Amino acid sequence: MGAKTPWDAIGEELAQGRVPQVIYRSPELWAQEQARIFSRRWLLVAHESELPAPGCFVRRRIGGLSVLIVRGKDGQIRGMLNQCVHRGAELTGYWQGAVRAFSCPYHGWTYDLDGALIGVPFRERLYAGAALPNSAHLVRVERYRGFCFANLDPEAPPLAEGLGDFRWYLDFWFQPGGMEMEVASGPDRWLIATNWKVPSENFAGDSYHTLFTHRFAAQGGYLPTSARLHDQGFSVRIPGLGHTANFAYLADGAPWPGVPPALAERFEASYLPEQAALFRRVRTALGNLFPNASIHTTVRQWEREGPLVRFWTVRTWNPQSPEQTEVLSWCLVPRQAPDSFKALSVQAYRLSFGPSGMVEQDDVAVWEGIGRAAADPAGDGLSLSLEMAPKPPLPGGGPGQPPGEISQGLINEDNARTFLQTWWRCLQG
Ligand code: FES
Ligand SMILES: [Fe+2]
Repeated sequence: MGAKTPWDAIGEELAQGRVPQVIYRSPELWAQEQARIFSRRWLLVAHESELPAPGCFVRRRIGGLSVLIVRGKDGQIRGMLNQCVHRGAELTGYWQGAVRAFSCPYHGWTYDLDGALIGVPFRERLYAGAALPNSAHLVRVERYRGFCFANLDPEAPPLAEGLGDFRWYLDFWFQPGGMEMEVASGPDRWLIATNWKVPSENFAGDSYHTLFTHRFAAQGGYLPTSARLHDQGFSVRIPGLGHTANFAYLADGAPWPGVPPALAERFEASYLPEQAALFRRVRTALGNLFPNASIHTTVRQWEREGPLVRFWTVRTWNPQSPEQTEVLSWCLVPRQAPDSFKALSVQAYRLSFGPSGMVEQDDVAVWEGIGRAAADPAGDGLSLSLEMAPKPPLPGGGPGQPPGEISQGLINEDNARTFLQTWWRCLQG
């Protein structure tokens, strides 16, 4: 046995529901995260509706790497590093666009939409038959329910394995029945001064904060005000994978409020019976797809007695440094929804979870405070608390039941503990 390192102490503290503050600052841990999580896991990077035609591309970041997600001439969506294999120049500085090929601005090497190196200026004269690379650095891309996931690890298991039983919940959010979602707005992009795990933990499971951080919304009638209501629902964890979700039930009102009745019927018809049962009770559903993709659907009410409007957002928290996180936030709508509903839904998203949305700004103000506190090495020895008593288990994972480890009540710290314990396990190897 080697000598006990401070890192052993992190694992022990996490196992007891304590959180060493250093995990939100340490450059060594950040480098480990890049190597063992962001270089190995399937990461949500785009939605296929952002790439409607061959040649369409988006530029995304995975850690410090710049990645292009491109629809090829054959309609397939592929990934490649946004980096020329000659001298390493960036192939494009645009966040998105449409091209016939990527031509490097430095010496003009040209890449086809599938990444093949198809042009080297003066190749015969200058390279005398040298064996140059055949392509850009390719990045694996797979899709599920319209979302594109990239993986830097050529040896990683397929996406289906990485998502596991969380697919059941993705189906619930983005319904499988012939009415795909499309990006209606975004992704909005902004930077926040906090560690990427802070917002990921929040979406993984922190309905405790809602009544306090977002007090204005509760007092204004936009959110339910009773803590009892917030205890009506359940939380779920997918064992081994770190994906988590939270479902808040309705106090009253129609099933799946906030969408036109004809649309609700189409949703319901597309579900498995156990999904339909959930659909009839749920008002708000949110969660985190490990490591850093968060999903949320809820309703917004413009006036106290006015109609509810549902919106869907997906966001990724992309680490740029231990203390800075890039946020990409998409608003999605059902493709077949009436245009009038789509417009209201986007507005509901923007006013609450867009970059200047009221709910989003409440959260960011708190998360950046956590970031400031953690940034000083003088606080490295401090510990924070995730010690809320575990919630009572509910049946789950059996036939006709939602999959995963389920517990009763919306307000919990079980999910955040699972998130951090999974994070720690990933760092071990
Ligand atoms: S760096 Fe791209 S062509 Fe030289
Ligand atoms: Fe919040």
